[in-house]
Order: sequence, then C-alpha cells, then structure tokens
Amino acid sequence: MKKKLLAILGSSHENGATASMLQCVLKSAEADGWETSILVLNQKQIAFCKGCRTCIRTGKCVIDDDIQEIAGLLKSCDRVVLAAPTYWANVPAVVKNMFDRLLGTAMEETATFPRARLSSKQEYLLLTACHTPFPFSWLCGQSKGALRAMNEFFKTSGMRRMGAVTFPSAKGSELPPKVARKIQRLWR
Ligand SMILES: Cc1cc2nc3c(=O)[nH]c(=O)nc-3n(C[C@H](O)[C@H](O)[C@H](O)COP(=O)(O)O)c2cc1C
Repeated sequence: MKKKLLAILGSSHENGATASMLQCVLKSAEADGWETSILVLNQKQIAFCKGCRTCIRTGKCVIDDDIQEIAGLLKSCDRVVLAAPTYWANVPAVVKNMFDRLLGTAMEETATFPRARLSSKQEYLLLTACHTPFPFSWLCGQSKGALRAMNEFFKTSGMRRMGAVTFPSAKGSELPPKVARKIQRLWR
C-alpha cells in the first residue's frame, strides 16, 4: 500500500514562496511513489475555536465544518508537511486557528502533562518563508517564532519531527537551490 503524505499550505498565495517550498516536497514524494493530498487552508471553512474543551474528552470538535475532514486526513497520513509563511514571527491566523480546532485531535489532558493522541510512527516536516534575510531571520526570532509555534502542535501530538526549513529573503516563487536541497535531504 502507498504511504500517504498530507501537504498543508498555510499561505494565501497559491503560487508564492511558501507554496514553492511545498511543491518541492510534493515533487520528491511523488517521485518516491507516495500518495499525496494537498490541503489549501484558505479554501477551507474553519470557524474559530469556542474554547469549550469538549474535544479534550471526546477527541472530536463539536463544530461540524471542514476541520472534521482535516482531522481525518491528519490521523490517517504517514507524513505531514506544513508550509506556512512567517507572520509577525508566528504563523498566519488560519494556521493558528487550525491548531486551536485540532486540540482534542492532537492531545488529551492528564493531571500533569498532555498525552499525545497521534502516533510516533507519523512524521512531520515544517517549512516557512519570511521576508527577513538570514541570519536575522533566525537571530531576531522571525522564522524561529513561526517554526516554534508549528512545532508545539506537532510535538504535543506525538508525531516524530523530520526537520524544518526556512526560505529567508523570500520573494516570488523561485526557490533558491540551497533551500530546495535542504528540503530534499530532509524528505529522504
Ligand atoms: C501580515 C504579515 C506579517 C508578516 N510578518 C513577517 C515577520 O514577522 N517576519 C518576516 O520576516 N516576514 C514577515 N512577513 C513577510 C512574509 O513572511 C513573506 O512575504 C513570505 O515570503 C510570504 O510568503 P508567501 O509568498 O507564501 O505569501 C509578513 C507578511 C505579512 C503579510
């Protein structure tokens, strides 16, 4: 059976810098015979989290919208790659909202530390594009902030980290060869 990759785009530009990073992963995955699903978050209906915390108990959000499909895709994939631009040294609102709505999909509460609800056999790869040039993208906490926010969700969910790649000084959709090579190396 083919392994499944869930590729999530958290940018509003479907042909922008972040999307070009995601395309690089998709090319490698398809060449390696993976089954791929692409999720463009901006095309999905995802209401804001109500903070009711029912999902902590049930594992499922009470709001019936596109988050149910996203939760299903996340639970059934072997790998997920999340590509999101850096916004205010963080992730764009649509990505943060997805994380909020997947609280009970990712974890359950205990008296001490959260318990993961996803599997350590599943892997995640994180990608971000930002305007700030390297090394300030990292030293000033820009891409670092976005990647930290993304990592918090996936690490807590119990999935295994493959790595993270930044596209600094990002302009347009042309991926610098160095960034492409790093993505390809992490994919394998
Ligand atoms: C609302 C907003 C906030 C941003 N915040 C940052 C930031 O904190 N640091 C940074 O380096 N770039 C920031 N940027 C620039 C984007 O990260 C950059 O343009 C990125 O390449 C966009 O990727 P895209 O082509 O997929 O849209 C911001 C852009 C927007 C629209």
